[in-house]
Amino acid sequence: MTHHIEAGDYRIHVGEGALSTLNSLLNETTYRQMTKFILCDENTVEYCVPDIIASVNALKEAQIIEIESGEPAKNIDTCIGVWKALAESGANRNSVIINIGGGVVTDLGGFCASTYMRGIPFVNVPTTLLSMADGGFGGKNGVDLDELKNIVGCFRDPVGVFCYPKFLSTLAFEHILSGLAEIMKHGLIADKNHWTSAMKGLSSEDPSDMIAASIRIKMNVVNADPKETGQRKLLNFGHTIGHAMESYYLRAENPIHHGFMVAAGIIAESFLSHKNELLEMQELDEIVNSVLGLYKEHIPNDFNEGEVIQLMMHDKKNKDGNINFTLLNGIGNSVYDRTFNTKEILEALNYLKQKLTSS
Ligand SMILES: NC(=O)c1ccc[n+]([C@@H]2O[C@H](COP(=O)([O-])OP(=O)(O)OC[C@H]3O[C@@H](n4cnc5c(N)ncnc54)[C@H](O)[C@@H]3O)[C@@H](O)[C@H]2O)c1
Ligand SMILES: [Zn+2]
Repeated sequence: MTHHIEAGDYRIHVGEGALSTLNSLLNETTYRQMTKFILCDENTVEYCVPDIIASVNALKEAQIIEIESGEPAKNIDTCIGVWKALAESGANRNSVIINIGGGVVTDLGGFCASTYMRGIPFVNVPTTLLSMADGGFGGKNGVDLDELKNIVGCFRDPVGVFCYPKFLSTLAFEHILSGLAEIMKHGLIADKNHWTSAMKGLSSEDPSDMIAASIRIKMNVVNADPKETGQRKLLNFGHTIGHAMESYYLRAENPIHHGFMVAAGIIAESFLSHKNELLEMQELDEIVNSVLGLYKEHIPNDFNEGEVIQLMMHDKKNKDGNINFTLLNGIGNSVYDRTFNTKEILEALNYLKQKLTSS
């Protein structure tokens, strides 16, 4: 079954039929005349681009721009390479970029398209679980500045998003796990049943339903607050501590997958939710045991708590010098704009480290 999800001005398609729907979009009058550029990375050029070109005839003549894979490539130097390649190939306002890849390609490709000639249209074809269920839509595009995550970017929507779950068959298991952390987050903040399904792992037969359920949760929140002035902050659960930990390991040149750092953030921020008397001990235990069961061996425990807190000071979500958190108000509910002082955050990081090191 193919899901077609309304996302404001565009649609997100999930399932077997996603590529034929992409072909239909690119054959519409608006896009038919446009020159097409595919942005991919060194893995998706091999694992995904040939299948797409074979089934989307509108892309037969597309020019391919390839970037390095991985988070360290999500920076402004890579953007310069992409902008130059576009300019040298004559891309103009009558061009469309098709981003084919994980969250790195869709974040960076969306940013390059939004800034090239003050903005040309782009399509996202997410090829990782993380980008299908979370990163490949919602309007946030951007890159990192050294270790500071997503610090340069913009809000701008793709003209369509096409998730073809068969691409997940070539994705390393560790990246499936990484994506599952965002799906768990969606359940924790908004839908207890979704959390219960996510805890059991991804259905290998057809993950489309689970991906579509996550997309719907995220888009309900985004549609109500696209520019993150309020409710959209709910999606940041696990990310205040998660992003700081991710920055810590990026700086140490030991990048850890985004979802693994979100899993760490979920543990620490569930602890803060419990400290704030919003989450029962029993629910905290359920979350921590489930997350540790899947992620313990993937989350390093040698971080320096003081440095992680320092990195949190740069968080875009902070206000008036306070470190801002989204907390769980029971599993399946959440609240935003809760602040903690550094002593309380240190306690949460100590709790995380103790959980990671105990046998
Ligand atoms: N914009 C948003 O709303 C948003 C939300 C969540 C995460 N993100 C961002 O997403 C990024 C993480 O995304 P990711 O986990 O997809 O990482 P990624 O893009 O680095 O992809 C992970 C790896 O899988 C490879 N790959 C991709 N598709 C493949 C396939 N089908 N088969 C084999 N290999 C494949 C990639 O080349 C890469 O090596 C982070 O930078 C994060 O900040 C953005
Ligand atoms: Zn995330």
